[in-house]
Amino acid sequence: MDGPGGSGKSTVAREIARRLGLRYLDTGAMYRAVTQVALESRIDIEDHNAVAELAERAVLTVGTSPDNPAIAVNGEAVDDKIRTRAVTNAVSAVAAVPAVRRRLVARQQQIIAEASPVGIVVEGRDIGSVVAPHAPVKVFLTASTEVRALRRSHQLGEKGIDDVARTLAELDRRDVLDSTRAADPLAIPDDAIVLDSTALSVQDVVDEVLRHCERVSARAS
Ligand code: DC
Repeated sequence: MDGPGGSGKSTVAREIARRLGLRYLDTGAMYRAVTQVALESRIDIEDHNAVAELAERAVLTVGTSPDNPAIAVNGEAVDDKIRTRAVTNAVSAVAAVPAVRRRLVARQQQIIAEASPVGIVVEGRDIGSVVAPHAPVKVFLTASTEVRALRRSHQLGEKGIDDVARTLAELDRRDVLDSTRAADPLAIPDDAIVLDSTALSVQDVVDEVLRHCERVSARAS
């Protein structure tokens, strides 16, 4: 499942995993974890060599339970630290470093292989295009920038209109960086279904994805 920030990917992906009894992987959390450690270690995130070296050394422990997708770096839980504004604003730069992507994509492919034969729902930006190009079901989830900013603000507990405006500007900036970077940009795979959740409830989107899974499974049997 791919899509921009605030499109509802995490909520939908976790619910699909629960409903189908599958594992779950949030690849954005892996890029966030590397970013969090880089910021904490006071590494200049524009220094690609330093960031790549840190990603090479960092030992990521990634949980794949849809109810508790815990993530740790070098044995330290970072779940509470990876959703801060500082990490959110720095993560696109870290995720654009090709060596970081190579390292994390390889790890993601390993986690996907380990989830076999149960299966796994994986969310990110390049899952259908790069990480799992042979995935049987590909979903690209999107929504208007305004609705995505409102959802993000709500998650962050923000209430003021200025906060929403700031979140919208930051989301816009991150969308541009994630979509235009040279390495594995956010892309809609040819064989993905595209769902626009702007006017849909979580339940509507989950139902639509489940119907699509049934269609794919009927075609395969
Ligand atoms: O989904 P998210 O907001 O937690 O993702 C954090 C950042 O990581 C986002 O700016 C893009 C990047 N990312 C990526 O480049 N590739 C992925 N597969 C997942 C996330």
